[in-house]
Amino acid sequence: MKIEEIRMEDLHPGKFIEQKVHETSSAVGSGLAINALSGGVDSSAVTMLGHRALGKRLKTYFIENGLMRHDEPQEIVSLFEGLGVPVEIVDAQKQFFDALKGLTDPEEKREAITQTFYRDVFGKLVRESGARYLLQGTNYTDVEETVAGIKRQHNILGQLGIDTKEEYGYTVIEPLIQLRKTAIREVAKTLGLPEEIYTRPPFPGPALAARVIGEVTPERVEIVRNATKIVEEELCDTGTFQYLAILHEDRVTGVRKGRRDYGFQIEVRCWDSKDAITGSPTRLPYDVLDKLAERITTKVPGVVSVTYNITRKPPSTIEAV
Ligand code: XMP
Repeated sequence: MKIEEIRMEDLHPGKFIEQKVHETSSAVGSGLAINALSGGVDSSAVTMLGHRALGKRLKTYFIENGLMRHDEPQEIVSLFEGLGVPVEIVDAQKQFFDALKGLTDPEEKREAITQTFYRDVFGKLVRESGARYLLQGTNYTDVEETVAGIKRQHNILGQLGIDTKEEYGYTVIEPLIQLRKTAIREVAKTLGLPEEIYTRPPFPGPALAARVIGEVTPERVEIVRNATKIVEEELCDTGTFQYLAILHEDRVTGVRKGRRDYGFQIEVRCWDSKDAITGSPTRLPYDVLDKLAERITTKVPGVVSVTYNITRKPPSTIEAV
């Protein structure tokens, strides 16, 4: 079925929310639904909308996949608890790292994450809770990029011919599928979410695994997690679309205290973009780049090289994997 985009200029956030609340509660009826909150604007908007529609008949989980940023699970859970939305953390780190073991191909890594998430983790939650519906924040751009064959976006199922009811035992409801990010930010704001949520830069579904080139292990995720923290601290006031750190697969020769240090390479990316479909690297001042290199090589153990990506999208993509 063709999905029709609702453009920003045609969006009435209040009416849109009212309609989606009605559709969601009619679809779920007296049954139960579950959803996963990551703290991104899409899943946050769906969580609020779902709670408005279903109240206690929606159970919200934060899936701790071991691939999130520093302290992210606890921070997001307490923020939502402050908004009156209870969220349960599910520790699935072992399942994700087992599934990723030995994989280096980007699409195989994405597929492993998707299957672990939808089949293993959600399959079990659905069996245990008796829920028959999964609410998720798929957006219009996710569909477009997957259908165009650019990258398999983490949350795309139906558009790839996957029958979730048949394969995983639940039906997926996607209230935001007709909206792009800017429109979702408006909806999130109207739903009463705080500014730090509705203005949050995008973060990919596969989380830091989208930023580890080569095998994704707990140790390699920790390197990129530490570098990400520094990049976010240094670039959060730039007003740019998105900024990130990537861990490369190859190591390079460095020198520390007069001795050879064969270490890791971190690539920093900072994007100017409207919709993530195209983008160009931000012309960051050299002093900012210098500080990033200094902090990352002194604070992240084992890193001897920091580079800045100067390629536009296309042909680059925003994430590395
Ligand atoms: P790419 O890397 O495809 O990213 O240029 C486009 C935008 O989508 C965000 N995003 C994802 N990217 N896999 C991705 O590679 C996902 O599952 C995903 N979810 C969101 C990405 O961060 C960028 O803003």
